[in-house]
Amino acid sequence: MIPTPHIEAKSKEEIAKTVLMPGDPLRAKFIADTFLEDVVQFNGVRNVLGYTGTYKGRKISVMASGMGMPSIGIYSYELYKFYEVENIIRIGSCGGYTKDVNLYDVILAKDVWSESSFAKVQGGYTKDVIEGTKELNEKLAKYAEELGIPMHVERIHSSDVFYRENFDEYKEIYEKHGCVAVEMEAFALFHNAKVLGKNAACLLTVSDNLATHEATTSEERQNAFTNMMKIALEMAE
Ligand code: HPA
Repeated sequence: MIPTPHIEAKSKEEIAKTVLMPGDPLRAKFIADTFLEDVVQFNGVRNVLGYTGTYKGRKISVMASGMGMPSIGIYSYELYKFYEVENIIRIGSCGGYTKDVNLYDVILAKDVWSESSFAKVQGGYTKDVIEGTKELNEKLAKYAEELGIPMHVERIHSSDVFYRENFDEYKEIYEKHGCVAVEMEAFALFHNAKVLGKNAACLLTVSDNLATHEATTSEERQNAFTNMMKIALEMAE
């Protein structure tokens, strides 16, 4: 089934085995423009931009996921299942749940807790924690160390809701489940990888902190996120 309903690449060769997935299409473009050579755009459907190029001579793709589990659920499924992608590394932003994670810190999601019904509805998975792929996490930890970029390796929270009426709920999620930060996609990505026998990892940069009420501007985020991108780009093969 190529092209798929949401990706217009005409053959699986147009997409590398490893795909980096920021949420924002313009961040995908930024990565392609800034870091990749011999870039070819393979997707523009719904402006969910996707590019393949080389990093230090090694092939890699970058494509946006959009926001939220339904969106990353669609794109990651089509990439894994129909384009035979093996590794997807989400590179996104997150909100810190504790003072222990500062603005701009990089977090590698060891595993993810969620109250979302995504995994249950998609494939009957009823637990609320899913792990990232160990081999990918080990590689990412090694690259971070080689690059001298400090990285937390922790449990995160994937939420379906950005604006909660009960703002303080994050405290309970931190205390009960040990999630140090919140984003909105990793649980669906890790689940799809699991059911399809593929690999997934999630690198995050702290863009705001619910405990300290600190936040970054969109301009600051663009620059600070390059640390996380450089770690992930080393996955190029
Ligand atoms: N909530 C959910 N997702 C996020 C946040 C947040 O506060 N910050 C960055 N991504």
